[in-house]
This record gives sequence, C-alpha cells and structure tokens, in this order.
Amino acid sequence: MVKMLAKQGHNVVTFDNLSTGNRYAVKWGEFVRGDLLNTTDLFRLFQDRHFDLVMHFSARSLASESVQNPSLYYRCNVVGTYNLLEAMRKRGVNKYIFSSSAAIFGNPVAESINEEHPKAPINPYGQTKLMIEQLLHDCSKAYELNTVSLRYFNAAGADSEGELGEDHNPETHLIPNILKTAKEKNSPSLKIFGEDYNTPDGTCVRDYTHVEDICNAYLKAINYLDENKGAHTFNIGNGKGISVKQVLNAAQEVVGEDITHQITDRRHGDPDVLVADSSKAREQLGWKPKYTDIKEIISTTWNWIN
Ligand SMILES: NC(=O)c1ccc[n+]([C@@H]2O[C@H](COP(=O)([O-])OP(=O)(O)OC[C@H]3O[C@@H](n4cnc5c(N)ncnc54)[C@H](O)[C@@H]3O)[C@@H](O)[C@H]2O)c1
Repeated sequence: MVKMLAKQGHNVVTFDNLSTGNRYAVKWGEFVRGDLLNTTDLFRLFQDRHFDLVMHFSARSLASESVQNPSLYYRCNVVGTYNLLEAMRKRGVNKYIFSSSAAIFGNPVAESINEEHPKAPINPYGQTKLMIEQLLHDCSKAYELNTVSLRYFNAAGADSEGELGEDHNPETHLIPNILKTAKEKNSPSLKIFGEDYNTPDGTCVRDYTHVEDICNAYLKAINYLDENKGAHTFNIGNGKGISVKQVLNAAQEVVGEDITHQITDRRHGDPDVLVADSSKAREQLGWKPKYTDIKEIISTTWNWIN
C-alpha cells in the first residue's frame, strides 16, 4: 500500500511496533516505530505531523490464536483502534480507512456474502473487527468522522514487481507455506488442517484476493471519502471459492512438481466456506479485481520467494 501511495505522489508515514512486521518492508516515506497501545507514541506521532487520512492495517489477525488468547486480541485490536481514533479526533483528522475482515460474518448462510449478510463471528478475532465497525459507526455520527471499512477475505499474492511479499514468522498463511515447502527441500511437509469440512473435497473454501487488488480498493476508498460522509462498509473479494486442495494443485502446477503434504486436525475457529459478493464495491467504489486466476496470484508469490 505504501509503495502504491508513494508512486502516486502521496507523502506517507508508516507507524508500526514491528511485533509481526518487518522494518525492511518500509522503503517509501517516513517510518515511525510506535505502539497503538501507547498513547504517548500516538500523541507524538500526531503532534508533529498533519495527516489528511489514516489507513489502519495493524492488528492481531490469527483466528486460532484469538480463541486461545482473546484478551490479547481485544486489547490490541479494539483498544488499539480506540486509541488511534482518539488521537485522530484530538488533531481533527476525520478520514479513516479500516482493514476489516470476512471473519465478522462467521459461518455463512448464503453462497456468497454481501454486506447485509448476518454478522455472527465464530472467533474473538472476528468479534474484535465487528466491535470496531460498530465503534466507527457510532463515532462517525457523533464526531463527523468519515470512514470506510474494507472487509477483505483472504489476502494473497505479492508485489507484481517481486519487491515485497508476505514474511511472517511463524508463517500461517496457506500460499506462502505451500511455496516455502516447495522451495526449502528439507522443510517439514505442509499441513492441511482438516478434510472433514462441509465442502466438495472436505477442505476449507476461501476467496483469495491479490494484495494489489486490495490496495486498489483503498485507493478507490480515498476518492469515495472525498465525496461521501459517514461510515461505509464494502466486501472485497474475487467472488470465487477455492478449496485448500485446489490451491495446492494450482501451486504444484506453478512450481512444476509435487509438494509433500499431510492432513492434520482442524484448527479452532475456521468456517467451512467464505466467498465474497463484492457487487457493492464494484458499483459504488468502481473497484474490479485484476487478478482472478489463482495460478496467477500464486505466481506472484513464487516470484517473490525466488
Ligand atoms: N491477510 C489477510 O488475509 C487478511 C484478511 C482480512 C483482513 N486482514 C486484516 O488486514 C490487516 C493487515 O493484515 P496482514 O495480514 O498484513 O497482518 P500483519 O500481521 O502482516 O500486519 C500487521 C502489522 O501490524 C503491526 N502491529 C500489530 N500490533 C500493533 C500495535 N499495537 N501497534 C502498532 N503496530 C502493530 C505489526 O507489526 C504488523 O506490521 C489486519 O488488520 C488484518 O486483520 C487481513
């Protein structure tokens, strides 16, 4: 996102505590190390600079970890967001774009999920994102805060120029894990968590959206906030459901060899199927994903890993 904004001539400041992020990834604009849970860090950040808009990506975001340690999630996500919104309010910054998540919906009751779909998170991570959306709704009414929440499904892929990509430790996301297993010949075999889900091949079905397509939704949201007041929500996804086994098969085609894997127990807090209906984003934001083929998405990650 920072790369894309910088390319468009925006002056960007990145604020991150580096708890899971990497300093080397911030190659554009200013970097400030700080924690959303530390109000002094936030005070200093906002005291010294004028911001037109805040994009908020930071979070704890592992569904299964949130089941084991919910306090960590409510504190980092909900209290962190509250602190950020308060710092913005004190300095009169009134435009905010939030990284929400498909996790707010829980187990779907429709084939694809639009904005009106019932919100029934099945893990604390999803609950925190839903609570934040509620906070934004109330704050937008009371304090003239204008917000867009982008509920994305599974972010995937890497920078198309191979300059940036996912680099978590430990890595929990499927595509980088599959490709790391392929790349590192002595690595343990890939784990597939459960094949008894209510899906055609028994593995979880997800909607994989390329990271650059998600960033493009943020660019569209900037323009949207110029013309629309209040709190708005959009579902951002390709609209195609792909199972874990289908992702593995596509990855094997991309790397040109079989990838060793084993089926293990389910993880806590994973719904069977999550697929987006993004008609509202397409109509109102003018957003359209460029990457619709899973093999193309996987190829960008393979390129980054290599
Ligand atoms: N990756 C996905 O598939 C996906 C899907 C839907 C929504 N999201 C949301 O998108 C956002 C980004 O996801 P990601 O996968 O890039 O996560 P990530 O863990 O890679 O990035 C989160 C960043 O936030 C920073 N951070 C965490 N707590 C902080 C704090 N208290 N103060 C300051 N910085 C802090 C971390 O150091 C890290 O750089 C998250 O809000 C996540 O919930 C991600």
